[in-house]
Amino acid sequence: MIKSRIFARRFFHTARCKKVDFLRKSCNVRTLQQCSQIKSKILFVRHFHNSRNSWMPVVSFNLSDIGEGIKEVELTEWFVQEGDEVAQFDSICEVKSDKASVTITSRFDGVIKKLHHEVDDIVLVGQALVDIETSGSSDDDNQDEEEVSEKVIVDRDDEENINLITKKALASPAVRSLAKKNSLDISTIQGSGPDGRVLKEDILNLIKGSDSKPVRKPTISPPVPVSATIPAEDKIEPIKGIRKVMLVNMTEANKIPHFGYNDEYDLSNLVSVRKDLKHEAKKHDIKLSYLPFILKAVSMSLSQYPILNSSISDDMENIIYKSSHNIGIAVDSPHGLLLPCIKDVQNKSILEVAHEVIRLQNAGLDNKLHPNDLSGGTFSISNIGSIGGTYAHPVIFPPQVAIGALGKIQVLPRYDREGDLRKAHIMCVSWSADHRIIEGATMSRFSNNIKYLLEDPSRMVFYLK
Ligand code: COA
Repeated sequence: MIKSRIFARRFFHTARCKKVDFLRKSCNVRTLQQCSQIKSKILFVRHFHNSRNSWMPVVSFNLSDIGEGIKEVELTEWFVQEGDEVAQFDSICEVKSDKASVTITSRFDGVIKKLHHEVDDIVLVGQALVDIETSGSSDDDNQDEEEVSEKVIVDRDDEENINLITKKALASPAVRSLAKKNSLDISTIQGSGPDGRVLKEDILNLIKGSDSKPVRKPTISPPVPVSATIPAEDKIEPIKGIRKVMLVNMTEANKIPHFGYNDEYDLSNLVSVRKDLKHEAKKHDIKLSYLPFILKAVSMSLSQYPILNSSISDDMENIIYKSSHNIGIAVDSPHGLLLPCIKDVQNKSILEVAHEVIRLQNAGLDNKLHPNDLSGGTFSISNIGSIGGTYAHPVIFPPQVAIGALGKIQVLPRYDREGDLRKAHIMCVSWSADHRIIEGATMSRFSNNIKYLLEDPSRMVFYLK
């Protein structure tokens, strides 16, 4: 929650006060769009009457602590410009940290007087984002506002409009922002929450109409050769945002001696099981891919080989065996490589895992992952096969100790037990483990266990708890 405080107060010239007094007397606004203006006028009248030195407060709206130890963010988009009127909960800007993107919303009604940064600037926690010439109201001082309304004499039409202003739709900043992004007027939406609160689902239902859950298009697409222009000069680009995080993490990862292990799994049975269950999953608005089965098989195998779901203590004296299987999935997004994690896979059904994969994938593509989604991972899987490629050499994401990369499932000729040649759906997997604490044999047994489960999914059903 943004916690900005009034930093500065600006005094008005007498002439301006006179102008407002005039406005108060002649105020007769009839349209809903003008409500905020009326509100400003009334609140200004408050200051005019309450203070000998008439003033309008200008607040410096600072970047507050957004948690997760985030110290700086990159400003990625302004939703306002100087001179714009804003109301509480209106989106001000979007900032991106090494963990997530956050839309910053206003806590004040007023007019934007100054933007303190340019897009792409790095803003430190505590630094000013904008100055807002407030109409005196923030979500902290609504009581003040009501007292003033009683004192102000307004004509009948204005009173009606003021009621409309006061009857602000109940909704969280995130829901307001979602509505705004989709050009929906939140004040006209009948919320399904307590006291008519507008919920995220209400907005999503409006966006999608009667359709089922939005599912992104598959990422596999044939490569299209494009004619690229080659720049005449070298270009220098600062490393920042997600790429900077990747740089820091991978530099750290380079200190780990990686043990690599590859194998191929015959997923022919899984291919037909998924085909059968796709229809079932659709009943739950889920587009079922292979990944949820694989993640569940990984979790079942981590239970048998918990050292792969561990980390080394900072003093390098202990192995910390993690109690949850929080499995990170590499998500290829336009903003860079992201690694959100599915929490407690050991307690989730395949359907629940599928739901999480879709949620994280969509949030990643929209740059809307929550910091919580990006923290706490204990093991990682990179499904590079959904883009293409057979093998990969995955790099461990510290402080984790192992990671797997999945290649593309390909139809290839293979001999069966009877020695007959048949069509098989083959996926190559590549594992990397921290060789300081994990033996190659452990990695091999772990991989064999996953292979055993995935090659005959009925075994998964048998051993599932
Ligand atoms: N082989 C063949 N097909 C695959 C596949 C694989 N390994 N993985 C997925 N597919 C198929 C899916 O079944 C789906 O097909 P369908 O429409 O017939 O069901 C299609 O490819 C698209 O799947 P996708 O939307 O990617 O879902 P997913 O659950 O398999 O994967 C992500 C989700 C987020 C992991 C994936 O989209 C992604 O971003 N992968 C890239 C990871 C990456 O960049 N790794 C490198 C890190 S260095």
